[in-house]
Amino acid sequence: MVVRLVVVGPDDDALLAAALQLRTGEEQQRFAKAPAESFPLALADPARTPFVVLSGEDDDDGGVVGAGVLHAGAAASDQDPELAELLAASGEDPATAVLLRSFVVGADHQGRGHGTAAARAAVALAPVVAPAARVVVLTVNERNAPGLRAYGRAGFADVGRYLGGDAGPQRAMTARCGPATR
Ligand SMILES: CC(C)(COP(=O)(O)OP(=O)(O)OC[C@H]1O[C@@H](n2cnc3c(N)ncnc32)[C@H](O)[C@@H]1OP(=O)(O)O)[C@@H](O)C(=O)NCCC(=O)NCCS
Repeated sequence: MVVRLVVVGPDDDALLAAALQLRTGEEQQRFAKAPAESFPLALADPARTPFVVLSGEDDDDGGVVGAGVLHAGAAASDQDPELAELLAASGEDPATAVLLRSFVVGADHQGRGHGTAAARAAVALAPVVAPAARVVVLTVNERNAPGLRAYGRAGFADVGRYLGGDAGPQRAMTARCGPATR
């Protein structure tokens, strides 16, 4: 599965419009915010980078199949002490972490490897949008089997249980990024 991640700005009308159409399954909505909710917040916050997931190569643009947000500094100890502690316990510096959040693949496009490929690509994108980034961290609900599976296959490792947020127990997962991983 080939995907490309494209960072979206406020003037990218066509990509924004396509992203805002993305919907997940009804029972999945508690797991992640869709772009209709996450993108306005991200576009207003310089620490957040919204991106879309395009399927296919440059010359075979299969359209927008997913979206997400990379959020620099969100796992720092003054922002999220619980996540910062999990990162520190696993040997990572929370100040160098970028949070992958609001990551979704549209319901019509799920189950074909897009989520796995896009999560892997998000790890490569993180140090491009946040040069100090050395680790990408995310939290995923313990009952979110496709999410756990996709992140694991993309190279994320479980670093412990996270009880923050309001969606029930989550797993915190990390993947190293940046110069040392190239
Ligand atoms: C999580 C999500 C991004 C995965 O996207 P995707 O494109 O479907 O992911 P992939 O096709 O790469 O992989 C899904 C994996 O989960 C597996 N899977 C799907 N449903 C499953 C289930 N009910 N139980 C166990 N595994 C399941 C698939 O078989 C696949 O694994 P495989 O490649 O070994 O066969 C997508 O399901 C989604 O947007 N969900 C709603 C929002 C969400 O949960 N986001 C993540 C929040 S942290």
